Amino acid sequence: MRWTWFLLPALAALSGCSGIQSVVSPAGREAAHLLDLLGWMLVVCSGMYALVLAFLAWGLRRRHRATAPGAPVVEPPDKGLMRALAIWAGLIVIGLTVLITRSFVADRSLAVPRDHEALTIRVTGHQWWWRIEYPTSSDGVVVETANELRLPAGRTARIELGSGDVIHSFWVPNLAGKTDAIPGRANVLSLTPTRVGWFRGQCGEYCGTQHAHMALDVNVLPPAEFDAWLFGQAAPALGPGDDRDLARGRELFSSGPCAACHVVRGTGAVGRAGPDLTHIASRRSLAAGTLPMSRGGLQGWIANPQALKPGTLMPTVSITPADADAIAAYLSSLR
Ligand code: CUA
Repeated sequence: MRWTWFLLPALAALSGCSGIQSVVSPAGREAAHLLDLLGWMLVVCSGMYALVLAFLAWGLRRRHRATAPGAPVVEPPDKGLMRALAIWAGLIVIGLTVLITRSFVADRSLAVPRDHEALTIRVTGHQWWWRIEYPTSSDGVVVETANELRLPAGRTARIELGSGDVIHSFWVPNLAGKTDAIPGRANVLSLTPTRVGWFRGQCGEYCGTQHAHMALDVNVLPPAEFDAWLFGQAAPALGPGDDRDLARGRELFSSGPCAACHVVRGTGAVGRAGPDLTHIASRRSLAAGTLPMSRGGLQGWIANPQALKPGTLMPTVSITPADADAIAAYLSSLR
């Protein structure tokens, strides 16, 4: 219902809730249905609350009058009271019926897009980052990225959610409600973004020390741009060319401890414990929203991840600042 939206922007303005991580600023079909339901709940429950207060005021006034000196004694059954209670019970039934109907309609609306899913994306929660896999149709190649989900506007994506360790919760408020990522189980949710732009997702279930630093950048693109992006991500990493510093960084990366946990497609680095770094420099942030992506950020992160994100499963390895800088320079060339 469009009219409920009149109420919600006012609420959003009051609470400062509009923006890139907000349920009252929907950028997707699913979030719009949920906002609609929120509007109905707000209207019905506010009405009921106002009636409770009015009933209370009426009751207090009656008692005040009944206890005044010389007031007439009302023998039970009190007809006025019985009528008020009957009206009240009727209003409760009407209110609950409206809420049940709207909940049912919203639930059915969320189930409909499954018929039109055009794209399957596997998202796996890890302590404390997101593994994102796009199976490309052509040759079974899986394009993998981390902490940044790109989606085409107007197409429905089927998100298959899993977890590598504990229970996480996938939540991009502008696009849809929360869905848990549970070990050993594939939960599915549909996302149909309607507005291009950047949004912020956040793990919605406490999952350990760095739960707060388990963010997800979400970028909704026009479909043609999305296809071009996916095509680019499917390519292996660029080589260092003639640049001797980059070649040194690449050598340090693929022959050192980094390669045990990270993949850079096209090199000898094939570790699976941590995020795929094939196109890391094309991402917006580092360590699941902990730092903005930059060469300096990469260097600091490589040199001492525990200082930037205490508890992260990325160990601090013994490395000279010059080597950390060389690896950072190489990684920042991986666009
Ligand atoms: Cu993952 Cu909280």
